[in-house]
Amino acid sequence: MKLIFKIIFGFILIILLLALANIYSTSYVLKDLLEERLKTGEVVFAKSLSNRLYRKVIEAKTFYITDVLFDEKTLRESKVEYILIFDEKGYLLSHTYLSLFPKQLLKLKHNFKDGEKYRLEKIQSDELSVYNIAVPIMEGIRQVGTIHLGIKSDYIQNLITTTKTTLTLITLIVSFFAILIALFLSKTITNPTLKLKILAEQISMGKLDKHIEIKSRDEIGDLARTFNLMTRKLKISQDQLIQSEKLSAMGQLSAGLAHELNSPLTGLISLIRKYRDKAEKDSEEHSHMKLMSRACEHMAKIVKDFGSLSRKSKGQFIELNINDIIESTLSFIASQFKLKAIKIHKEYADELPEIRGNKTELQQVVLNILTNAKDSIHEGGDLHIKTNISEDKNNLIMQFIDNGYGIKTKYLSKIFDPFFTTKPHGEGVGLGLSVAYGIIKNHGGDIKVSSEFSKGTSFSVFLPAYNHQEGE
Ligand SMILES: Nc1ncnc2c1ncn2[C@@H]1O[C@H](COP(=O)(O)OP(=O)(O)OP(=O)(O)O)[C@@H](O)[C@H]1O
Ligand SMILES: [Mg+2]
Repeated sequence: MKLIFKIIFGFILIILLLALANIYSTSYVLKDLLEERLKTGEVVFAKSLSNRLYRKVIEAKTFYITDVLFDEKTLRESKVEYILIFDEKGYLLSHTYLSLFPKQLLKLKHNFKDGEKYRLEKIQSDELSVYNIAVPIMEGIRQVGTIHLGIKSDYIQNLITTTKTTLTLITLIVSFFAILIALFLSKTITNPTLKLKILAEQISMGKLDKHIEIKSRDEIGDLARTFNLMTRKLKISQDQLIQSEKLSAMGQLSAGLAHELNSPLTGLISLIRKYRDKAEKDSEEHSHMKLMSRACEHMAKIVKDFGSLSRKSKGQFIELNINDIIESTLSFIASQFKLKAIKIHKEYADELPEIRGNKTELQQVVLNILTNAKDSIHEGGDLHIKTNISEDKNNLIMQFIDNGYGIKTKYLSKIFDPFFTTKPHGEGVGLGLSVAYGIIKNHGGDIKVSSEFSKGTSFSVFLPAYNHQEGE
């Protein structure tokens, strides 16, 4: 059964139960209340009548009394069946019947016990169905007669029936609005659930860049936010998986190539240097040898980077301070920043915990990031370098923020791919960041990038803090 029908069905059931309970409890309460009201209200009426008429009863002014009785009965037509007055001796003095007088009313009792102010009895027969109220007519402490007042019992029944009908009508109207509310409520539940279902289907098809727009602050909103978070995390892990798969595939290929190319290249470089040194300076041979030597060195660098892609760190891991790693790397490259008049702003956090890592490899990471920043920053631009510790104190963070030409959004997912470069042929190989990525992953860390095209780029490198006690 669809959720929407379940909710509506539930609502109607609850309302019907409430309504039934209401109708029945009310009619019982009402019956008691009406009987109570009858006792008090009508007894008071009978008493006031007795006060008005006691003299006329003593004087046996039958016509006068009958007149009054008819007037009063007319006023109470819907409730009062009869009014009877008996004298001291129990003879019927006056009554409100125009036609046949019911015989059984002659058997009514007129005597009262001590302290008894009135008597209420139900009379039920084929002819009559009334509540009879008997009140003594007093002159001082002497009883001079009796008034009997017959209240129609169907008057009470009618009242109860009208009340029940009204209540049923109200219930129907309330149910109608309840269904509307249920419809609205169920839509607020089913609509987002439907969106979540669609999103889940898309995720199962591998579309991890989708997310759901639900801003409500209730449980559904929480669920949607958790769903979005889950999708984002899935996307990140999927990206990382793809990245490491690419790196490992490239790594296997490059390891073989690097191994094969390394020794001939080293031999070639030393031979060329030997012949270059032998050639006459400023001669054509010398300048050709210089060109050849530079080309070979360039190739050797690529081969070296190639090797780093696959290599699991064999170097020694020692305790290091990230501020020192940055400072020592900056000393290699500072002159190049000076050439472009780039201002370096340093914000190092003090007393940072140490990390464990390979110094040369981590310097290589910083160098690659700094070189990219230097290439991107315009003359006279700025580079901010910050170090910090994460809020949960588990990671140390190196942040490099430049105001260079930035990275187009469509390239952001590619920059860690081996051989991805936007630099002109001969200037970039596209290995710097993939090497850095491999090294940082080897150190149990992470690199994150954010960039706005033509505004600047920020690289954050995360490395796990080293805990001396636990030795990790
Ligand atoms: N700070 C930066 N500002 C703008 N673009 C950047 C920045 N860092 C990296 N990039 C982009 O990422 C690409 C890949 O960088 P990566 O360091 O891997 O290769 P490369 O610098 O092109 O070549 P290599 O480093 O191998 O000499 C760059 O070509 C550039 O487009
Ligand atoms: Mg680079």
